[in-house]
Amino acid sequence: MNNSRKAVAIELKKILDRYQYHSLIFMLTDGRSMQEPWTEIPEYRLSKLPQELQKVVRFFYQGKAVELSSDYSQLLSSLENAGLADQLSGTWKLKELRIVPIQGLYLIVDLWSPGNHSDQLQVWLGRDSMFLGQIVQFISKRKRVLDLCTGTGIHALINASAYDAETVEAVDINPRSVFLTEWNALINQLEHKLRVHHGDLFEPFKGKSFDFIIANPPFLPISEDSQNMISFANGGNDGLAVLRRILNECSDYLKKDGVMVIFCGGFGDDYQPSFSRELDLLTKEKGWSTQLYSVSKDPVKFILNNMGSEFPSMQEGITMMLNDISSDITSYYNFLICIRNGTDPVFQAIDCSFSVKERMDQSRRHKKLSQ
Ligand SMILES: C[S@@+](CC[C@H](N)C(=O)[O-])C[C@H]1O[C@@H](n2cnc3c(N)ncnc32)[C@H](O)[C@@H]1O
Repeated sequence: MNNSRKAVAIELKKILDRYQYHSLIFMLTDGRSMQEPWTEIPEYRLSKLPQELQKVVRFFYQGKAVELSSDYSQLLSSLENAGLADQLSGTWKLKELRIVPIQGLYLIVDLWSPGNHSDQLQVWLGRDSMFLGQIVQFISKRKRVLDLCTGTGIHALINASAYDAETVEAVDINPRSVFLTEWNALINQLEHKLRVHHGDLFEPFKGKSFDFIIANPPFLPISEDSQNMISFANGGNDGLAVLRRILNECSDYLKKDGVMVIFCGGFGDDYQPSFSRELDLLTKEKGWSTQLYSVSKDPVKFILNNMGSEFPSMQEGITMMLNDISSDITSYYNFLICIRNGTDPVFQAIDCSFSVKERMDQSRRHKKLSQ
């Protein structure tokens, strides 16, 4: 089974390489797909391309039904058998998937966009994923790597493609994530370096330790009373439940001098995320050198309302939260936590924040232009 999947993945990669898929998508989205992998391609630009290239973009990037040449029949039936494509009256379509080119890699991802997620088990790939992907490039000395909450496998794969990484392990609690990450390892021919586990955080790694741990855990504040179980997003009442578990359990798995980088989000006042105080105490208790970089800071009401429009099924819980929120919480932050294990404890909170609102306004303007 694995060998036949490998053959299909190699064939798929050959086709994407042949059409210079990275450059093609980069140019058609003006590079925006590097930040928002769901960036739409204006029809007027697509229609200028030769028919064959149009089909490639519609099929692989837009996830649309397309009539494809019989040269691809064998590959397409293998994709159908693997549960990745469907045949519909003479046309072929990826199964609610698209292929996104990222940092020299191809990622098969769910056809997801903000405000349009249909299934609670869908696999996340967001602006945070892309941002963290850029940061990963600057990490050095990472022979043994662990990617917690891997999603599409984006960070596991970026690490595995680095020359200094010897082994990368990745874990996710969502079986669909494991399915996609395994395919993504195969299509990028990195399966020899990457092992994907289905499990709960550190549970599959008892007795192992790592030089570098990376995580983008679920961190949306979702009331515990809520019926909403968006597994890729649910970070409990204040959004920090999974982050706290990672921080409490990581010491057994991070080597001395090992580094851990986590992207997360949470409430705060005008000056810093509320989590700063908790992380400062934890740093002293565990003997870490820790930096908490505030990456974005916005009015809390703006962010909660925006979450409601990106995740319509959370709307009810968000309205409850907006009514209950205490007056000393004024801001919502995204932050990056960098920890080095086993040094004299140092904690620094560093403000590098920009406004998510400005970035979103820009993205909405682009969307309007694309229509
Ligand atoms: C915000 S997504 C991030 C995915 C990916 N790391 C990225 O940045 O694109 C969070 C991921 O954590 C996974 N997850 C949630 N709880 C988990 C747990 N207890 N153990 C392992 N994975 C978990 C979800 O299924 C989801 O794929």
